[in-house]
Amino acid sequence: MIDRCARTIDYIRVSVTDRCNLRCVYCMPEDGVQWVPHNAVLSYEEILHLCRIFAGLGLSKIKLTGGEPLVRKGMDRLIADLKAIDGIQCVTLTTNGVLLADQLDGLVAAGLDGVNISLDTLDRAQFKAITRRDELDRVLAGLNAALDCPGLNVKINCLPMGSNDDQLAPMVELARERPLSVRFIEVMPIGLGKSLTHRSEEDVRAILERAFGPMTPFHGKLGNGPCHYFSLPGFVGKVGFISALSHQFCGECNRVRLTSEGFLKTCLQYELGVNLKTLLDDGRDDAFIAEAVRQAIYNKPLQHHFADTSGEQALEHHGMSQIGG
Ligand code: GTP
Ligand code: 5AD
Ligand code: SF4
Repeated sequence: MIDRCARTIDYIRVSVTDRCNLRCVYCMPEDGVQWVPHNAVLSYEEILHLCRIFAGLGLSKIKLTGGEPLVRKGMDRLIADLKAIDGIQCVTLTTNGVLLADQLDGLVAAGLDGVNISLDTLDRAQFKAITRRDELDRVLAGLNAALDCPGLNVKINCLPMGSNDDQLAPMVELARERPLSVRFIEVMPIGLGKSLTHRSEEDVRAILERAFGPMTPFHGKLGNGPCHYFSLPGFVGKVGFISALSHQFCGECNRVRLTSEGFLKTCLQYELGVNLKTLLDDGRDDAFIAEAVRQAIYNKPLQHHFADTSGEQALEHHGMSQIGG
C-alpha cells in the first residue's frame, strides 16, 4: 500500500500480548502494571483474520512482538498459520530470549524467518539491574540455540543507556565470528524511556571505534526495519544502529503496528489509527475493515516529533510493552 507521502507500507508489527516475564527499567515499572484484560486481547483467530485483510492490501512482512511474545502459548501455531496466508512472505519475532531455547525448534519448524533478541549487557549483575530478573543464562542459551539454527536470521537489540557503556564492545565481540547483527537502539522518549539516559549513535560509534577501529557503512539489506549497518574489519557479523532521534528515518517508514488490543497504530509516537477490534466485534465485513485499514494507512503521519513533545499532537500515552516496540 502507498500512503499519502508516497511511502510503500508493507510491514506490520503485531503485538500478541502486553505481558512480559522481565521488567526492563525503560519499559515497565516493577509493580503496578495495568494489564490489558484477557478478553480485550485479540485471539489468534482475530489476529489471523486481520492479517489476511492486511495481506490483501500488500502488507507482506510480519513482526511478532509483545510485551514478550513467547509468554503467550501457541506461538508456533500462530506462525505456521500466518506463513500459510497468501501474500505473507516473511514472519519474524522480537523476543527477550528467556523462553527461546525451550520453544525454538517449534518456532523454526513453523517457518519462522528470523529472531531479534533484546539484550543490553553480558554482565550478570547489570542484566539483573536493567531487567529486574536474573535470567541472563536463559537468554544466552536462547541466543546460542538461535545461532545454531541454519538459515535463521539472528539479531541482538541493545539499548545503550550509560550504565552499560562498558558492555557495548563486549556485545559487539559476539559478532566477530558469527553471522549475527548487534544493533544499538537510541532510547526513545516513550513511556519510561522518557526518564532514561540517552546515548546517541555518535556516542556509541566513538566507543566502538576506539575498541575496534573504523567502521564501514554496509549497504546490503538485512531486515525490514529502520536499522542501518556497518562492517568492522575482521568481523563476520555486522553492527547496526536504530537512531530514531539522531537519524530520523520517517521518510522511509514502511510500517504500521497492531496492538494486542486490536488498535492499528500508524506511527509509533501518536495515538492515531483505527480500532479494528471494535470493527470485528461489531461484525463488520472484510471489505469494510479493509477500507478502514486503507484509510488509516493512507493518512499515516509524516514523521514523529520526539524532539518536541510540547505540541498539540495526539501523543502516545501507552508504554512500549503495550505498543510492541
Ligand atoms: P528487522 O530489522 O527486520 O528485524 O526489524 P526491526 O528492526 O523493525 O525489529 P525490532 O522489533 O527488532 O525493532 C527494533 C527497534 O526498532 C525497536 O526499538 C523498535 O521500537 C524500533 N522501531 C521499529 N520501527 C520503528 C519506527 O517506525 N519508528 C521508530 N521510532 N522506531 C522503530
Ligand atoms: N526506546 C527504544 N527502544 C525501546 N525498546 C523498549 N523500550 C524502548 C525505548 N523507550 C526496545 C526493546 C526491544 C524492542 C522491541 O524495543 O529493547 O528490543
Ligand atoms: Fe519485557 Fe521487552 Fe519491556 Fe523488557 S523491553 S520489560 S523484555 S517487553
